[in-house]
Amino acid sequence: MGQILFFYGSIAILVIFLVKEYETVPCQVDCQKVKCPANCTCTEGDVNCHGRDLTYIPCIPSGIKHLNLSNSNISILSNNEIKNLACSFETLKHMILRDCKIKLFVGDVFINLTHLEVLDLSFNEIVSNQKESIQRALGSLNRAPLQKLKLDRLLIQNGVQEIFKYFDGRHLTHLSMRANQIQEFEDKVLENFTKLIHLNLHGNWITKISLSSGVETLKLFNLSHNQINIFPPIFCDHKTGKTHYKNLKNLDLSWNQIIVPYSQNWNCLKTLETLNLSRNDMEDIGNNDSFSNLTSLKTLILSEMRFSLTRIRKEALKSDSLQHLDLSGNGLNFENRKEVDETVFHYLPNLTSLDVSDNDLGSDGVKKLTNLSRLETLIMKHVNLRLLPDDFLGHFPNLKYLNLYRNKIEQFSANAFQNVRLIEVLNISDNLISTFPVPPLPSTTLKSLKKFDFAYNYFLCDCEILKLRKWINKVLSDPNKTNLISRYPDQYWCYKPQPLYQVLLNVAEPTHCKNIKYQLILSIVCSASICVVFTVFLIVAYVYRWEIKLFLHKMRHNKRDGYHPLTYTFEYNTYVVYAEKDSAWVIHDLLKDLEEAKYKAYTRDRDSVPGVARCDEIVDNIYKSKTVIFVLSKNFMACQWCLYQLNVAQARAVKLGPHFMIPVLLECIDTKYMKKSVQHLFRTSKPIEWARQSTKNKLFWSELKTALDEDLNDEFEETGYQSFDADYASIGT
Ligand SMILES: *[C@@H]1O[C@H](CO)[C@@H](O)[C@H](O)[C@H]1NC(C)=O
Ligand SMILES: *[C@@H]1O[C@H](CO)[C@@H](O)[C@H](O)[C@H]1NC(C)=O
Ligand SMILES: *[C@@H]1O[C@H](CO)[C@@H](O)[C@H](O)[C@H]1NC(C)=O
Ligand SMILES: *[C@@H]1O[C@H](CO)[C@@H](O)[C@H](O)[C@H]1NC(C)=O
Ligand SMILES: *[C@@H]1O[C@H](CO)[C@@H](O)[C@H](O)[C@H]1NC(C)=O
Ligand SMILES: *[C@@H]1O[C@H](CO)[C@@H](O)[C@H](O)[C@H]1NC(C)=O
Ligand SMILES: *[C@@H]1O[C@H](CO)[C@@H](O)[C@H](O)[C@H]1NC(C)=O
Ligand SMILES: *[C@@H]1O[C@H](CO)[C@@H](O)[C@H](O)[C@H]1NC(C)=O
Ligand SMILES: *[C@@H]1O[C@H](CO)[C@@H](O)[C@H](O)[C@H]1NC(C)=O
Ligand SMILES: *[C@@H]1O[C@H](CO)[C@@H](O)[C@H](O)[C@H]1NC(C)=O
Ligand SMILES: *[C@@H]1O[C@H](CO)[C@@H](O)[C@H](O)[C@H]1NC(C)=O
Ligand SMILES: *[C@@H]1O[C@H](CO)[C@@H](O)[C@H](O)[C@H]1NC(C)=O
Repeated sequence: MGQILFFYGSIAILVIFLVKEYETVPCQVDCQKVKCPANCTCTEGDVNCHGRDLTYIPCIPSGIKHLNLSNSNISILSNNEIKNLACSFETLKHMILRDCKIKLFVGDVFINLTHLEVLDLSFNEIVSNQKESIQRALGSLNRAPLQKLKLDRLLIQNGVQEIFKYFDGRHLTHLSMRANQIQEFEDKVLENFTKLIHLNLHGNWITKISLSSGVETLKLFNLSHNQINIFPPIFCDHKTGKTHYKNLKNLDLSWNQIIVPYSQNWNCLKTLETLNLSRNDMEDIGNNDSFSNLTSLKTLILSEMRFSLTRIRKEALKSDSLQHLDLSGNGLNFENRKEVDETVFHYLPNLTSLDVSDNDLGSDGVKKLTNLSRLETLIMKHVNLRLLPDDFLGHFPNLKYLNLYRNKIEQFSANAFQNVRLIEVLNISDNLISTFPVPPLPSTTLKSLKKFDFAYNYFLCDCEILKLRKWINKVLSDPNKTNLISRYPDQYWCYKPQPLYQVLLNVAEPTHCKNIKYQLILSIVCSASICVVFTVFLIVAYVYRWEIKLFLHKMRHNKRDGYHPLTYTFEYNTYVVYAEKDSAWVIHDLLKDLEEAKYKAYTRDRDSVPGVARCDEIVDNIYKSKTVIFVLSKNFMACQWCLYQLNVAQARAVKLGPHFMIPVLLECIDTKYMKKSVQHLFRTSKPIEWARQSTKNKLFWSELKTALDEDLNDEFEETGYQSFDADYASIGT
């Protein structure tokens, strides 16, 4: 049955081939006369017939280097067609036969293209039971220095070995066999491809992979979108610990079904810099050495495993060299130490970039990141963050890029950015922030910033928003910062209050806002007038200070002025002690006034009895007086008798109490000239100051009279004058 089908198939193909042969337009023999093919575009050395649905290869002029025939409808490629390229056999370097619906090659079609460097045969539909046709076609390339060969989506199945049966690939550096249906791959096929650098097997159905032969020159190995399961491919000889992939830098194993990151299979790859394990089926990354022996590893992608990954253990991510780590899309709960170990980021001393987007950092998860002091890029999109702690960013002095897109942050604090001085991009869009402080960022932070995105927040458009708007306008007017605020104003909408819902921030007019300028002026005027009133009050109070004092004094001693009769024990209301040189004032001012008010005053000069010994007389009369007035002046300090009388009076005052002594200050006296006893007097009784100025003068008299009327110690009334001798005796000792 199969043989019959094959027979008829071959007949059919032969018929098509003959028909085609007939259709083909034969080329001009004279290359000079060949023009640019109809419906193609030609520039110097370049013919592009892309998308013309050509059913044959047109005649091309000589000297062409690039031929682009993609999206045509050739179906069978034979020697006859290729002959149309004869004028450029010696020059053609790039030939694109992508998606030309080629089903069959007939003969050694590429044999005369001896300068071809790049050939793209992708997206054709080679009939699978005509393997010989593609084997021969590729074999015919051996004379060309072919460097890049693309064989994507040719629906090649297990025939990798077979399609390269005659092809030696000595010059090949790039081989792409994407989107075929390869199920098994053995690198022995490539053993003679001694210059291969890039190998792309993306999007096949590979389950079995054997890498025992090795491709020493290979730098990029793309195995993504295959069906490699449980363990990673074995790159290392388990006995010798060696690898044949001595130059591999980039290994893409994303979109496979690897469950265990079994390190023995790859830890010999000492040159590996990038390892992409995104979208595998890993469940528990626990092994210490998973990555630590990849001593050149810089980039590790462990993203998008939200349906399998449940745990990253203590030293799982240990690597001294790692700089970029992507853990996004794993749905891990960073607050749960069972899912993400407390110290998981403690063994990454060189990490500069981290992506933890699409996990759950909650409120505490961020603490686990604080050891990563070299971070320059931190991406935390959609991680359930409710708060950016004020002391968090300080741990990353080199931070340049911070993305907090789509979290649940409600409060924006400028303090959080206090120590962030190098940041260039800050994205905090799509959060729940209603008010931003003004200015939102410290000026040091703003200095380095190039992009600031805070669109899609829950802006509260009250009067405060006017300040923010003003700040934005100010920043944008700086010629170096005109693009600072991303997506402004188009994506900045008010959320509240209700009437302004979804009104653009830059045009929203909040109501009930007093004009800020007006408020400012008002407050200045108010405070100024308060100042003026207060000053006036102070001046008035100063000018009328004595009147006020007098008034207050009278209020306090609410007694009638005038004479107060002496009790039976005393002869005099007061005894006046003064210096000789002040006698004029005493006689003219003091005594006159006192006696007018009917006070009895004793002065030695006037009232002394001749012949009585001076000391006795002094003591006697002080003891007969209810009070003693001391007329204090510079003269007083120089007067020995005055000081003697002061001592006597002080002794007497012990019994009669502090009201007994009344200092009257005639003039200002510097304390350094005062005797100790006078200083003591000042301390016990407040002196009454004399003044000529009329109000102050009234105050003087009022105070003096109050002092004269003050009650003495009660005790005295009993002992009275009789205790004279005892007191006197005590002074004598
Ligand atoms: C060029 O294109 C036009 C229409 O786009 C078509 O009628 C014509 O047959 C084409 N010429 C050739 C030589 O294919
Ligand atoms: C071929 O031409 C098309 C259309 O101009 C262009 O899109 C395509 O990139 C070209 N292919 C190559 C390999 O130059
Ligand atoms: C390609 O050419 C064949 C005839 O050679 C025709 O039947 C088919 O419709 C063409 N396909 C396209 C997409 O033009
Ligand atoms: C290659 O060129 C030789 C002569 O230069 C010619 O005989 C032969 O037919 C050509 N083959 C193809 C496939 O073009
Ligand atoms: C590699 O080349 C050698 C010698 O030319 C040959 O024997 C061997 O079969 C080739 N290997 C493959 C896989 O083609
Ligand atoms: C692997 O190939 C796919 C498809 O061409 C591409 O998207 C991916 O970037 C490649 N990986 C690397 C590391 O180049
Ligand atoms: C890793 O693989 C994923 C999935 O194929 C891809 O999206 C991503 O771009 C890759 N990353 C790198 C750096 O190649
Ligand atoms: C992890 O490494 C430490 C030393 O760094 C070692 O003591 C421990 O046994 C290792 N654990 C595993 C599971 O390999
Ligand atoms: C990692 O490398 C160290 C020293 O280079 C070695 O002792 C250790 O066994 C290696 N680990 C694995 C799992 O091969
Ligand atoms: C850490 O990174 C620097 C470059 O940023 C590199 O020079 C250094 O070798 C790295 N350290 C390790 C242990 O790989
Ligand atoms: C990580 O940080 C913690 C506290 O912040 C500190 O105790 C610990 O020593 C740090 N570990 C490393 C490896 O730096
Ligand atoms: C703008 O930037 C230039 C150079 O980057 C600088 O010299 C200039 O002072 C800046 N202008 C302002 C207004 O900051």
